[in-house]
Amino acid sequence: MQRPRRNRRTAAIRGMIRETVLTPSDLVLPMFVHEEPEDVEIASMPGVTRWSVDGLVAAAGEARALGVPAVVVFPKIAENLKTPDAAECANDDGLVPRAVRAIKSAHPELCVITDVALDPYNSDGHDGVVGTGPDGRTDVLNDATVEILCRQARCHARAGADIVAPSDMMDGRVAAIRSALDAEGHTHVSILSYAAKYASAFYGPFRGALDSAPKAGDKATYQMDPANAREAVRECLLDAAEGADMLMVKPAGMYLDVIGRARAATTLPVAAYQVSGEYLMMKSAAAGGWLDERRCVMESLIAIKRAGSDMILTYYAAQAARWLAEES
Ligand code: PBG
Repeated sequence: MQRPRRNRRTAAIRGMIRETVLTPSDLVLPMFVHEEPEDVEIASMPGVTRWSVDGLVAAAGEARALGVPAVVVFPKIAENLKTPDAAECANDDGLVPRAVRAIKSAHPELCVITDVALDPYNSDGHDGVVGTGPDGRTDVLNDATVEILCRQARCHARAGADIVAPSDMMDGRVAAIRSALDAEGHTHVSILSYAAKYASAFYGPFRGALDSAPKAGDKATYQMDPANAREAVRECLLDAAEGADMLMVKPAGMYLDVIGRARAATTLPVAAYQVSGEYLMMKSAAAGGWLDERRCVMESLIAIKRAGSDMILTYYAAQAARWLAEES
């Protein structure tokens, strides 16, 4: 008789045959920064802080000390700096470039990733410029947006970003950003493309954190329909062909099949983003005493890795690294 349970009999055997191992080097910490001198807890994301630039540098250093190799910087921009053309996104003295320079000078070995998209800077709250499209309808304009994204990516590269991560879902932006970076000599800067980014309700708490919710309409004309998986493969293959160095699937936990397909479809590293709503579901259920936070978080992360991702962006990155250190 076949007895699979023999391979589960002792912790030693289970350890030997374990197929997937999570380490801090798999984890990336998304971080929020604002202009204010205080570090404040974000109301829509309990346990997550919106840092001053100084606080950001210190917290990034702590994550690094725990073995987390990379952080992503998300800015909350003052309302009066937001414009329809999101011009502030390419200001070399803006919040993101200053934050990147500060992190890189304090922790040169830490990998700094920046988000390339217009939503924090755009008075319309969309990832691109709103205007009248070729069909006469109001929409986010693709090619006009891509031009601005190129300026934004170059600005981040000048500040010292190691990786720029376009999260806007415009067509053709990976190729355009790659040539814009190369033309200015940033051939070493990588592109982590949000290739399969879904129009998800699970981004709600993040938009609260940045005050970046769209003022009108939704993001369904550029972010993907949650019903589609084949289309994700198409997006991944296009971004790979355009020169992306790494691909991302987002959200993560409910899109494990998409992570698996992205893994199978390309040879590029695959990242997955455990988004704010996924974080909040575990955080709030744990706060209510209904879920064991540590076990649920570690299970969610191992599942995301098992599905085929090489790197996981998660608000739990530092905490999970701490838990992993306790286990070893
Ligand atoms: C926007 C961006 C979003 C997130 C990362 N970059 C929100 C959106 O697309 O509306 C979401 C992250 C999260 O929910 O944790 N460029």
